[in-house]
Amino acid sequence: MAKPITTFTCSACGATHQKWAGRCDACGAWNSITEEAPLSAGPSAKSLGAARGKALVLSDLSSTEPEPPRAASGMAELDRVLGGGLVPASAILVGGDPGIGKSTLLLQAAASFAQQGLSCIYVSGEEAGAQVRMRARRLGLGDAPLRLATETNLRDILTTLDAERPDLVIIDSIQTMWADMVDSAPGSVSQVRAAAHELTSFAKRRGSAVMLVGHVTKDGQIAGPRVVEHMVDTVLYFEGERGHQFRILRAVKNRFGPADEIGVFEMTGRGLAEVANPSALFLSGRDNPAPGAAVFAGIEGTRPVLTEIQALVAPSPLGTPRRTVVGLDAGRLSTTLAVLEARCGIPFAGLDVFLNVAGGLRVTEPAADLAVAAALLSAREDAALPRDCVLFGEISLSGALRPVGQTENRLKEARKLGFSTAIAPTQSKLGAPTGMKVRQMPDLAAFVGEIFGAG
Ligand code: TYD
Ligand code: MG
Repeated sequence: MAKPITTFTCSACGATHQKWAGRCDACGAWNSITEEAPLSAGPSAKSLGAARGKALVLSDLSSTEPEPPRAASGMAELDRVLGGGLVPASAILVGGDPGIGKSTLLLQAAASFAQQGLSCIYVSGEEAGAQVRMRARRLGLGDAPLRLATETNLRDILTTLDAERPDLVIIDSIQTMWADMVDSAPGSVSQVRAAAHELTSFAKRRGSAVMLVGHVTKDGQIAGPRVVEHMVDTVLYFEGERGHQFRILRAVKNRFGPADEIGVFEMTGRGLAEVANPSALFLSGRDNPAPGAAVFAGIEGTRPVLTEIQALVAPSPLGTPRRTVVGLDAGRLSTTLAVLEARCGIPFAGLDVFLNVAGGLRVTEPAADLAVAAALLSAREDAALPRDCVLFGEISLSGALRPVGQTENRLKEARKLGFSTAIAPTQSKLGAPTGMKVRQMPDLAAFVGEIFGAG
């Protein structure tokens, strides 16, 4: 019999390699490649063609099965991110940095679902029962009809779940689960994969929804959530800056709803509180508009969200000036700076540039370009932008402002929050609400000329 071949797998992206290397070619992570135990040589390891399996039941697309009703948790922000509630038999991964609040969120979610009448089991592989109960009491959920188990042995967990058939199972966390048929330590790529596979198959087989907690790890000591992203139906990331109390739950993949939807929460002394009106929160404390601040009318998922983009520009003592970005893509800052220099003749050489999104939100929309440029110019010229003005628009490399989508939603939200002017690309069908004045500009040079004089 051929000797089983050992493979090497990257714990960050899951790519397999023939031999060990310090850096993964596929994702560029350092020190993330670990040796994987070969597949067991039992009868199931034989070539699949050798033994006959059972015939599949084939059906066509038109066969009608009634769509199972979604269950709402009562936490509106969570239901929104799930695409309108929990779908039975779905597998959901909730990823995030350690300590960001995943266990808190899922304990609250499980308790809410339980209070809506779903049977829920919370399996903790990380904390003792007493710890979870203490947290539940602190969150005011001490008497929620939620059942709890502390266990890491996957076989025992699955046996229990098969017997209990709950509507929802929370597994906290996937990295602590241990499948005894796999020969490596909990947290390794093969363990995490095996555990996720077993739990998602359980979800499909029994019709239970399964939520898996996955820690994001930077050092590759344990396998990150990326390894299981493709196996589950929905991937949610729980993000936020450590120093801020705001937490964003973002759907990055959802087979049952729109991706890129966000839910906003605030971490308080009594757990996570929902933030129903994030724009008001991200703009709070804007009484005197300062130079370097611009309000971006953005869209997160299906919802408009206004955020303040802040820039600071100062002479640099360094040969290579600093470019520090928080909450935005650093590449887009470089592009915007280059366009300002090449198309508008405004250089940033010799100046340190710091860029920040207030409140700890991450903005990924290209429509933020114009607000970024406005914040940079306002900081450089030391002149505040008009107080009641929002901006949106994508900047192309030629300096032209490109139209963006969902203008009506953006403008309505801005109007609702008391803004009366918007600066936008020249485009048809803006759908501006009454009381909102829209100044349309064809390119960045026109914007510079109009807002900052001759530029
Ligand atoms: P936790 O849910 O344990 O994080 P994770 O499971 O993602 O590792 O959250 C831990 C943090 O949340 C901890 O720093 C304390 C904070 N926290 C509060 O601020 N208020 C609370 O009511 C709770 C339960 C936690
Ligand atoms: Mg936890």
